[in-house]
Parts: sequence; C-alpha cells; structure tokens
Amino acid sequence: MTFSLKDRLDASAAATEARLALALADAALPGERLRPERLMAAMRHGALGGGKRLRPFLVIESAALFGIPADQAVTAATAIECIHCYSLVHDDLPAMDDDDLRRGRPTVHRAFDEATAILAGDGLLTLAFDLLAGEDAHPDPAVRIALVRALARASGIGGMVGGQMLDLAAEGRFSGGTPLALAEDAIRDLQAMKTGALLAVSVEAGALLGGATADERAALLAYGRALGAAFQIADDILDVEGTAEEVGKKVGKDAAAGKATLVSRLGLPAARTLLDRLVADASAALAPFGARGAVLAEAALFVANRRN
Ligand code: IPE
Ligand code: IPE
Ligand code: MG
Ligand code: MG
Ligand code: MG
Repeated sequence: MTFSLKDRLDASAAATEARLALALADAALPGERLRPERLMAAMRHGALGGGKRLRPFLVIESAALFGIPADQAVTAATAIECIHCYSLVHDDLPAMDDDDLRRGRPTVHRAFDEATAILAGDGLLTLAFDLLAGEDAHPDPAVRIALVRALARASGIGGMVGGQMLDLAAEGRFSGGTPLALAEDAIRDLQAMKTGALLAVSVEAGALLGGATADERAALLAYGRALGAAFQIADDILDVEGTAEEVGKKVGKDAAAGKATLVSRLGLPAARTLLDRLVADASAALAPFGARGAVLAEAALFVANRRN
C-alpha cells in the first residue's frame, strides 16, 4: 500500500475542521444582522473538535478519483458534515434518543439546553445549504444546484429525516410501546435512509465535483450504498460490544430502547457475516477505478472494523 489511510483521514478531517471553524466564526456575513453568541457556541460545540469526519473524507477522496484537489472539495465536504452534526445534535435530544454523551463530551442539550440544541441543529442544517450555494463549493452553478438537490434528497423526507422517523416508530413509541417486529428488508430500508443516504451522497458529491460519467457515478453510488449499510451495522455492533470510552457515546442503548437493528433481528454472527459481505460489495463496486479505488476500498474495511 502506498498510502496511509490514517494520514488521509487526518488530512481531510483537518481541512474540514478549518472550513467549519471559518463558517462558524462570530462575525456576521453579508445578509446577516448579527450572530448570537450562545447559538454560535452551541453550534461549535456540536460541530467542532470531534468526530471521525468520515463523510468529508468520502467527498474529498471520491473527488480525488477525478483529479480534484482537496481544497476544491472541502466546502461541499463541510456542508455534508454540517448536516451530519445537526442530525447528531437532534438525534441526542430527550425527545429522540435522549443521550448525554457524544464524541466523548456532553451532548449539546446537556452542555446548553434543549431549545438551544434545537436551534443549533437548525442553524447547522441551514448552513449546509449556504455553503453549497457559494462559489467556493464549485465554480459552475449547475454543479452547485445538483449538489444542493442531491444533499436535500439524501437528508430530507426520503433520506435521513425519514429514516429517523422510521427508527423512532420501530421502537413502538407511536403504537402502544411494543417495538415493531420489522423484517430484515424493512430494517435495511430504515438504515439506508437514516444513515446510508448521507454516506452515499458523500461519494455522489465527489462524482458531481469531479464531472464523473454516468457509469462512474453509478459505481460510486453502489459503493456508497454498500458502505452506508456496513457503517450502520458496525455502529449497531459497537452499541452491543463497544465501551463508552471507545465510542465516546453511551452503549447498550439500542436494546434498551427497543431499536430495530440488524443485530437484534439477525443476531451478532449473522450481522457480522452481512457486514463482511457489504464490505466486499463496496470494494467490488470500485472495479472501474482500478488501482485508484484502493483508498476507498481500504475505507470500507476501516468502517467495518472500527472501534469508535
Ligand atoms: C454516528 O455517526 C451516527 C450514525 C450515523 C450511526 P459517526 O460514527 O460518523 O459519528 P462521528 O461523526 O464520528 O462522531
Ligand atoms: C443515528 O443513528 C443516525 C442519525 C443521527 C441520522 P443512531 O441513533 O444509531 O446514532 P448514535 O448511535 O446515537 O450515534
Ligand atoms: Mg437514533
Ligand atoms: Mg442515537
Ligand atoms: Mg447507534
């Protein structure tokens, strides 16, 4: 291997952190009146100084397949990370998963308060589309519009938000309290939406930035979908097998809440077999890129074997 995955993850994380810090600066931008101090502090708490930054890495590395330098992909990468961070701030709220610990620190509603956490999430969601609309996302407005549309679809009704709705409904909380006995396919739909869509749109964004052909875009999308499914299974396995110290969030919470996961549905050994198959599918999807696909293939292995 002629590259270190860790170095590449670190490089895209550092570039994203810097771009995020700039976007979350105190000074008001043209069109803004002022930036409330408490809101900015809560948004920074939810977005800066933590996280694997896997989605930005996927944007930057998939754009790199087409020769796009990282500094030309980092704004779109940061936009997707804003959506991800907002989804975590809201996911942790008492009305949702009710978690106190995130990325090894108190969740935003614990460090601040619920109303501030809701607004910090709203602010990050809105900021994502502000970033994508700007010229530094891509010089061609048609590409920017395609990025906006793709991210909206992945994060919205039929993507992350819809998946979160299905996830909460599966706990039985709107239907008498008994968790729904979802079939494997239904759980895969739920997970493809709540988690997979944002991971898949990350590689899709790289394809859009890089001017990929339809075939190249389809190959990346197949990779992203397999990776996204693998990612949530790994998350669900870590909820059973990991420690709070490793993962930086409370563990054992899925079973306690009656979440529909492939671990609860299939059992650990079968979930692990499925995870291995998805990693193989992800790598196989990269075939059209030949040796250039090695970084993304390695990332799929990382996602499956991660301990945090
Ligand atoms: C956690 O995502 C939430 C899920 C989608 C399962 P990550 O594991 O990517 O969280 P961070 O960004 O590294 O904290
Ligand atoms: C979260 O899934 C998915 C989103 C935030 C969209 P989980 O609820 O499993 O994530 P963790 O375990 O709290 O990170
Ligand atoms: Mg959740
Ligand atoms: Mg959660
Ligand atoms: Mg989880």
